[in-house]
Amino acid sequence: MVCLGNICRSPLAEGILKSKTKNLEVDSAGTAGYHIGKQPDIRSIDIAKKHDINLTSQRARQFSTRDFDDFDKIYAMDNDNYSKIISLARSQKDMDKVDLILNEIYPKEYKSVPDPYYGGDEGFQNIYNLLEVSCEVIAKKYETR
Ligand code: 4NP
Repeated sequence: MVCLGNICRSPLAEGILKSKTKNLEVDSAGTAGYHIGKQPDIRSIDIAKKHDINLTSQRARQFSTRDFDDFDKIYAMDNDNYSKIISLARSQKDMDKVDLILNEIYPKEYKSVPDPYYGGDEGFQNIYNLLEVSCEVIAKKYETR
C-alpha cells in the first residue's frame, strides 16, 4: 500500500487489509521521505480505532525498488504516487505489479483516494469507506483458504 507520506492513507489501507486476511503479508510505504519513522497521523489512528483496528505500531518508511522484489502486488493510493512508483520500476515485470487501489472497485477508472492531510476529519471517514470496500475485494481475491 503506497501513498505520499505513509502517515494517512496507506497505513489505514495496511491496517484494514490486515484485519481481513491471515495469510497475506501486508505492508505500506510512502513515495516521499518527509515522515520516515513517524507514527500514522492521529486522524488515521482514530478512525481505525473506531473499527477495532490498531495502527499505533506502524512507522512510516519510504518506498524503494526493493519493494518490487519483496511484494507481488503494489497498490498506489492516487495517480501521482502511481506515476512515481512506475518511474522507479526497473522492468515490465515491476510495472505489472502496480495498480491503483480504487481500480479494484472502479475497474480501469484510475480514480484517486483523495489526500486527506490538509482537510478535516470527514476526509478521513471518506478514505476509510473507500479503503474498506477496496480491501474487501482484495482480501477475497488473494486470501487463500
Ligand atoms: P498520505 O498523506 O500520503 O496519505 O500519508 C500525506 C501526508 C503528509 C503530506 C502529504 C500527504 N505532507 O505533505 O507532509
